[in-house]
Amino acid sequence: MDIRNFYETHRLNDGVARLAGFNPYYPLIQSALDDPLMIDGKEFINLASNNYLGLANDQRVVDAAINGLRKYGVSMCSTPVAAGYSELFSNAEKALSVFSGLEETLIFPSCYQANNGLFQAIAHSGDLILVDRFAHSSLVEGIKTAGCNYRPFRHNDLDHLEEILKRSSRFNQVFVVTESVFSTEGSISPFREINELCMRHGAIPVVDDSHGIGVIGQTGRGILEHSGIRDFQGIYTASLGKALATAGGMIGGKKQLMDYLRYSVSHLLYSTALLPAALQALLRVLEIIDLEFPEISARFWKYTRMLSRGLQTSGYQLTVTETPIVSLCTGDPVETLQLSKQMYENGILGTPFIYPSVPEKEGRIRLIGGANLKPESIDRAVGIFHKIAKVVV
Ligand SMILES: Cc1ncc(COP(=O)(O)O)c(C=O)c1O
Repeated sequence: MDIRNFYETHRLNDGVARLAGFNPYYPLIQSALDDPLMIDGKEFINLASNNYLGLANDQRVVDAAINGLRKYGVSMCSTPVAAGYSELFSNAEKALSVFSGLEETLIFPSCYQANNGLFQAIAHSGDLILVDRFAHSSLVEGIKTAGCNYRPFRHNDLDHLEEILKRSSRFNQVFVVTESVFSTEGSISPFREINELCMRHGAIPVVDDSHGIGVIGQTGRGILEHSGIRDFQGIYTASLGKALATAGGMIGGKKQLMDYLRYSVSHLLYSTALLPAALQALLRVLEIIDLEFPEISARFWKYTRMLSRGLQTSGYQLTVTETPIVSLCTGDPVETLQLSKQMYENGILGTPFIYPSVPEKEGRIRLIGGANLKPESIDRAVGIFHKIAKVVV
């Protein structure tokens, strides 16, 4: 035992940032999610936030949060199971169930906690979890701690998934875990087919709709609507901190299972309830989506197409097109941070992903054209990308 040795071993390795001459992480934001966004006293076009519908600083949502704060105070200072379950909490769970077409919903302090805690409650030693190779860390880390067998399947590869399902009859229960819109790739899972495969093989589908809820589907209800799935037999999770513009996470599905999870997921049972301001804001966001989705989403998709076409014309390589996320293939980690640096110096904020968020030696920069941005800003961003393409592409 040696304390100095401990601190030596737990030292940040920032070699990639030093080689690139730039560390893009933890930018110090000095404004709300406005256009422009302020960082370091400088104006930025913000393509980094998951504020798809642009509602995070909508005055109606801010007013709702203030009302929640006025009535219930800052915090319930308790876990939901003890004294944190306000009527606001119950109303928000009901509203989310109706919104997503689920029998019942549980609200968690974050979707990381929801995903991370779920598998410990539902998966046991004789079970198998099949998980898309690009699934989010919250799912993967949760699966690893569940103490059951798990195996990745190739990204969005139905043949590979079916081949494994056919060979999995010896397990007590099989789960198939995927995302809807993949957070780094931007690709959309063929979830209707995955759901059908699960039903055919007696497996339970689990989908994380964090980047789909409020974004995809005819009326913004997310992956189940997008896939035409009614009476979903599986488990649905989503972050409330992206298109829904607040914070928290949800797990939804059959009432019988939710009754069980309410008393079984440690990450819910032993963590302070989501703040009243966030719950009241969430209820307002759901109302706004109900009323205004066609108009807001038309703006969002227009921006997405402007970005994706403009960047392709300038020679950038995208992972996929026509999805809510514009994801640039940016080479190795150093090249990824170098492009981030160019963007930063020209007033554009994006989200760079390097290992372990993406496979080793690869890189992505995620761009999201939130509906709160001005069309001129998107035009300007496309122009800047064109200018820096001469240096980096
Ligand atoms: C796919 C996916 N799942 C879960 C999460 C975690 O959500 P939250 O921020 O609510 O903890 C994220 C957030 O980055 C995500 O992208």
